[in-house]
Amino acid sequence: MTALTTIQFTSATKRFAGRGNNIHTAVDAVDLLITAESRIGIVGESGSGKSTMVRMMVGLEGPSEGSVEFRGRSISALGRGDMRQFRREVQLVAQDTSSSFDPRRTLRDSIRRPVLELLGLKGSAADDAVDATVHSLDLDPSLTQRFPHQVSGGQRQRFAIARALVVNPKIIICDEAVSALDVSVQGSVLNLLKQHCENNEAGLVFVSHGLPATAFISEELIVMYQGNIVERGRTEDVIFSSTHEYTRTLIDAYRTTSDTPHKPGPRLTKVTA
Ligand SMILES: Nc1ncnc2c1ncn2[C@@H]1O[C@H](COP(=O)(O)OP(=O)(O)O)[C@@H](O)[C@H]1O
Ligand SMILES: [Mg+2]
Repeated sequence: MTALTTIQFTSATKRFAGRGNNIHTAVDAVDLLITAESRIGIVGESGSGKSTMVRMMVGLEGPSEGSVEFRGRSISALGRGDMRQFRREVQLVAQDTSSSFDPRRTLRDSIRRPVLELLGLKGSAADDAVDATVHSLDLDPSLTQRFPHQVSGGQRQRFAIARALVVNPKIIICDEAVSALDVSVQGSVLNLLKQHCENNEAGLVFVSHGLPATAFISEELIVMYQGNIVERGRTEDVIFSSTHEYTRTLIDAYRTTSDTPHKPGPRLTKVTA
């Protein structure tokens, strides 16, 4: 294995069998390098292939063609030891769903699991790690005694982020991780996530159909359309200088909705951070 934490897509393609004999290309020959220094945003309309890319990043889908490698080895062929290292270094936060936590376990139990399994901490050391991470996400650690259905959706989603951050991964992948949250909560969660990555020198891949959140948190922006990367570059350049028709459509759609008073949100002001 190579020394650095990297996830490398090389001409990675994913095809699915559709209706009849149709083969649908969900992700088309994507090249992408993710490291602990990445701050990548991936944006695109629903169905553009974002989640399929995410699933390939974490080994839930193997590519139909090309390769997706962790530290130089195919993710879909990692052995037990390498898989453990992969889980230790790469963590996914998916959109809040009723199935994101085991309903029979307290939140504390669920968040302690990766601490026990991947960090080998036990007893009060494990609890301290849980408390510190939960606290850093502006959550009251006493809430962890509850079951997942006993907290609000916004709290549960922050607990899902805590479960990913608690092992201090080198790369954090978020797929629509704030999309279900109120806009007011979204901003604070984005800030906490950004802060965590800066403080812990962790890389971030932030995937969303929402441009403002993605632009806010990323330094490099990738625009997906029908399985293809149609534009990529420094976030500022893509937002302010894009001439690409599809990207302009995304930006214009946002500008129109952001002007309506009942739909406030982080504005597309110049990203200086
Ligand atoms: N397991 C699957 N089987 C068949 N088609 C799939 C599967 N997963 C995704 N797709 C298709 O691939 C395309 C991209 O989906 P997805 O990656 O979920 O897009 P996004 O996350 O951008 O909304 C869609 O047309 C979707 O229907
Ligand atoms: Mg998706």
